Amino acid sequence: MQRQNKTAQRTDISTLESVALAATRSAAVASHPWVGRNDKKAADAAATEAMRQVLADAPGRGVVVIGEGEKDEAPMLFNGETVGNGLGGPDFDIAVDPLEGTSFCAKNLPGSMATIAFAESGTMWSPGPGFYMDKIVVPPQAKGAVDLADPPERTLGKVAEALGKQVGELRVVIMDKPRHQDLIKRVLKAGAAVHTPAEGDVGGSLEVLLPTGSADLLLGIGGTPEGVMTAAAVRALGGDMLGRLAPQREEEADAIRAAGMDVDRIYVRDELVGGDALFAATGVTGGALLSEPRESGGTVLAESLLVSRGEVRRVSHTTFGSMLRMAS
Ligand code: FBP
Repeated sequence: MQRQNKTAQRTDISTLESVALAATRSAAVASHPWVGRNDKKAADAAATEAMRQVLADAPGRGVVVIGEGEKDEAPMLFNGETVGNGLGGPDFDIAVDPLEGTSFCAKNLPGSMATIAFAESGTMWSPGPGFYMDKIVVPPQAKGAVDLADPPERTLGKVAEALGKQVGELRVVIMDKPRHQDLIKRVLKAGAAVHTPAEGDVGGSLEVLLPTGSADLLLGIGGTPEGVMTAAAVRALGGDMLGRLAPQREEEADAIRAAGMDVDRIYVRDELVGGDALFAATGVTGGALLSEPRESGGTVLAESLLVSRGEVRRVSHTTFGSMLRMAS
């Protein structure tokens, strides 16, 4: 369901880098008081409201192609919502997950972060009513080497060859979900090592894509918003990704069919995000990729990653003030 950009006007998406960073930083700082409070909905709502406020003032006009959506029953930044002040900026598409890893945030475990992706208007795939998709993410050196139709053993062989490694040297990120137990067994049996976080396939994909990352590929089924955001990062860095809708319940499959979409179709990277794109994330609970926001001497220090124009930039931002304290 690739939408067409009727005006066909190309926009320089990198002009939105500072908006992307402001959006994730604001969401991360707003949700941080909820870390470790066993209330993922409140944490998510705080992040979403903060991100929405920043996006309302963004230059130009944007459409939330894939947002919090019905999966998380979120009231804001829903699919189709328009954002931006309409003044002097580009038209753009966005995919958001203001709090990626809500359970990590609720339990104060590493890996929770605020995330957003921007792409040229009309170039982001809309998964329609699909909440879940199967994904393969590989780094730039393995671009063009993989096919989602292949069995995992063959994928491992192809990625190993592209990276100049033995299968036994590969490190594969697969979320630790009941639906992945067979996949994990097969990958282990083939000789590769696995990293199996409880959640967070955006963070897992970044471990594959970043030059300093600790993994060689990501496999398995995760959320569609996370998939589209990942595709933006993949495109910005020149890696590769394939995706296919993977409904997890009968109602989801029925809704996809009713929307005229094909659950067997494999989407290549440039069908997931077909134009210039950028991705930003700010740490909420900290972890290997990003540290958590910290207060010191009347300032708040937050750490973000910006993936844009073929580069990864790590941005530390200090603002005066203090993080909101939750009313007891
Ligand atoms: P949220 O924080 O938005 O809930 O997403 C966490 C996450 O693990 C994603 O990284 C992943 O794509 C998705 O949930 C998988 O969904 P589920 O936990 O329902 O299998």
